[in-house]
Amino acid sequence: MKRVLITSAIPYVAGVKHLGNLVGSMLPADIFARFCRSRGYDTLAICATDEHGAPVELAALEEGTPVADYAAKWHKVQKELGDRFALSWDNFGRSSSPQNHELTLHFARALWKNGFLEIRVTKQAYSPTDKRFLPDRYVIGTCPHCGYDRARGDQCENCTRVLDPIDLIKPRSAVSGAADIEIRDSTHLFLKQSQFSDRLRTWIDSHKNDWPSLVTSIAYKWLDEGLQDRGITRDLEWGIPVPDDIADGQLKGKVFYVWFDAPIEYIAATKEWADNNGKGDAWKDWWYGDAAKDVTYWEFMGKDNVPFHTVGFPVTIMASGEPWKLVDRLKGFNWLNYDGGKFSTSGKRGIFMDAALDVAPADYWRYYLIANAPEGSDSNFTWEQFAGIINKDLADVLGNFVNRVTKFCVARFDGQVPGEGEYGEDEKALIAELDRRFAQYADFMEAADFRKAMGEMRAIWVAGNEYMTRAAPWTHIKTDRAKAAVGVRMGLNLIHQFAHLVWPVMPDFARTIHECIQPVGYRGGVIPFPDAPMAELLDDLTPGQPIKAPEVLVTKITDEQVAELKARFGGAGA
Ligand code: MF3
Ligand code: ZN
Repeated sequence: MKRVLITSAIPYVAGVKHLGNLVGSMLPADIFARFCRSRGYDTLAICATDEHGAPVELAALEEGTPVADYAAKWHKVQKELGDRFALSWDNFGRSSSPQNHELTLHFARALWKNGFLEIRVTKQAYSPTDKRFLPDRYVIGTCPHCGYDRARGDQCENCTRVLDPIDLIKPRSAVSGAADIEIRDSTHLFLKQSQFSDRLRTWIDSHKNDWPSLVTSIAYKWLDEGLQDRGITRDLEWGIPVPDDIADGQLKGKVFYVWFDAPIEYIAATKEWADNNGKGDAWKDWWYGDAAKDVTYWEFMGKDNVPFHTVGFPVTIMASGEPWKLVDRLKGFNWLNYDGGKFSTSGKRGIFMDAALDVAPADYWRYYLIANAPEGSDSNFTWEQFAGIINKDLADVLGNFVNRVTKFCVARFDGQVPGEGEYGEDEKALIAELDRRFAQYADFMEAADFRKAMGEMRAIWVAGNEYMTRAAPWTHIKTDRAKAAVGVRMGLNLIHQFAHLVWPVMPDFARTIHECIQPVGYRGGVIPFPDAPMAELLDDLTPGQPIKAPEVLVTKITDEQVAELKARFGGAGA
């Protein structure tokens, strides 16, 4: 059996994620995982919250909550929102878990033992008022490049340049506002990434044809600019402490950098999954050595994460000298913009996962977002476009199809699958077209080519709708009942197969329509992919079998609502 391991970039624990975060990693990973399960593959889908690092420590400080409690609280919120969006992870872990502590130390010790870590004394901002070093975002000041006066030590929000806290002009502490910032020496561990340039290049070359060019171009850019050794420790309290057996205790009181332990959490979250489910060492069979050789490992992420997954994490794995799995297929995404501007968590701009569910059911968002996923280039969210796609694709085409066929069957055929008449030329032509389209759709999905897959899915609904218009059982019922029966029987069979087809994308919708036509419970909730000739599948329902017409399936979004939503969520200027 095919085995597929899927990870989505683990979201920072602080706060609710916006739809740009969702569409760039968690949603496509989930749709792909569901598709794999629907084809019967042995599938493991992993995500987690990314809980360490200065931003989390700072946010907890601002709220006056101990950071461990703060992380636990937001982890729970994110898990619940994920569930409400039908994100079907096998485990949604936490990078602060004991498993991740253990594995991060395992990797760090292997790197130390293999001689790939180096001790360096660096210049760090220190505040005597705060009695601490101020790494990354702990320092605020004026950007040396653009003059923005609230630039943070890791990056300027205004001009997006990456900064070092000691580059800032007029630096001050983000904790206390104190301006008494000194530059002091601090010892840190550096990972000798530069030694892996050749190995990385050979590895990335080998994926030139199966990774999107977005991904390979980012990876090559980093290699071409020359890999820098990377500091993997920080002067923070919250995180995974550097143990005394590394560097003879010289790193006492420091923790590993969040970007060091976060990707290791992919593995640790798999171990959490095994531990929580009494599966012993099964986690290793997904990640390590010969047992994991037949696993295809897919990663999903936004483009800002690509360097860490094509350089940082692979170097950690290579430097360990152990046979951990490297990513096979790396699916990166561009940005989803909000009404022509950026989604922004700090600026509270755009639509966040909780607010989105107040506006429309998860399935609407799942379909809209994946059909417009920022694959080839950035894509742009507007309320008009959202309403247009829901009203057209989901209400006018799919919803309307299901409604008119089931209602007519209830009204004129006692709500039973009619058995009269034989399929003729038009039905055979439709069957041939759908054989072709379902196969094409499956190929696109296998490649995680989502926009193309959704285009094909839509074309399948349209083909069904157009057939129904031609078959027009509502006209024939007056003169030729058998002819009308053929149209209705085909229509019901189509609805049944549509439920199977759309399940990975719209699981609630799929279940609703499936239950109306054929109320069997599928084990584990998976509705399998229609993997047989359409001639069989579209003649699968037993004549006489009862069906139901669903309640209202898709509610249209009116112009008035669009105006109201735009005002509520703010437009480009907000
Ligand atoms: N938390 C990061 C972000 O939201 C992603 C971390 S992905 C991992 O951008 F590889 F580090 F896990
Ligand atoms: Zn700037």
